[in-house]
Amino acid sequence: MPDAWHDDDELWKHLAPVLFDRRRWEKAETEVQLLLALVDQSTGAAVLDLPCGQGRHALELARLGFRVTGVDRTESYLQEARRRADANGLRIEWVTADMREFRRPEAFELIINMFTSFGYFQDADDDRLVAENFLRSLKPGGRLVMEMMGRENLAAGFQAHDWHELDDGGFLLEERAIVDHWRGLRNRWILLRGGERHEYEFTLRHYSAGQLIDLLEGAGFDDVTAFGNLEGDPYDEHARRLVVVATR
Ligand SMILES: C[S@@+](CC[C@H](N)C(=O)[O-])C[C@H]1O[C@@H](n2cnc3c(N)ncnc32)[C@H](O)[C@@H]1O
Repeated sequence: MPDAWHDDDELWKHLAPVLFDRRRWEKAETEVQLLLALVDQSTGAAVLDLPCGQGRHALELARLGFRVTGVDRTESYLQEARRRADANGLRIEWVTADMREFRRPEAFELIINMFTSFGYFQDADDDRLVAENFLRSLKPGGRLVMEMMGRENLAAGFQAHDWHELDDGGFLLEERAIVDHWRGLRNRWILLRGGERHEYEFTLRHYSAGQLIDLLEGAGFDDVTAFGNLEGDPYDEHARRLVVVATR
């Protein structure tokens, strides 16, 4: 077993049907349209989707004519992404890499970090390192879009227990606990599928809007703005997600 939950291939393999169910795939097209409108990005630009998972957004961006690079640490996700790209005749560069290490100086006009893909590392300095990698990989004037469950969103709708029925008839049982004075959210996920039971525990750092803005400005980003969704609504008491746009 790896030391850190996010380095565990088996965890990501078992979570795939939860993270990338039919509803999530269906949402990707609209999410891409909204985020492109939010940053007013014209087609043809070089875009980095990091981490890209199974390529929900990368595939859609390529369909729209962007030059897309999808980076993720989970090889099995990239295999599925590759399969879908080939099946649809889409050319996308897929790279297996850790977000703490992937950096390609001044290569991209747009970087997207979607679906709470930030705040995984035990050491907060690693989050800052990822932000610096994003900055360095952007061309001057390039934009970063991050979309996640912010700390305020979590507090506003906090549920200690939750369950979901999966597409394949399995179930996910979730237990949440605030740890370390809100520095972390500890999740216990029990997955019941096909007569098997898998249990995982992982702790995430859910950023407040102010903290994330400070972190990105500290990394060197300008014009850092928070929104309550990809439509660009304000990050106020009605917000259910945290979306941050930042410019190099
Ligand atoms: C919640 S998923 C989101 C994937 C994608 N952005 C989407 O919206 O479908 C989080 C992703 O982070 C990837 N991941 C976790 N730790 C990582 C790391 N250190 N470096 C790169 N990718 C990582 C996982 O493999 C997984 O695909």
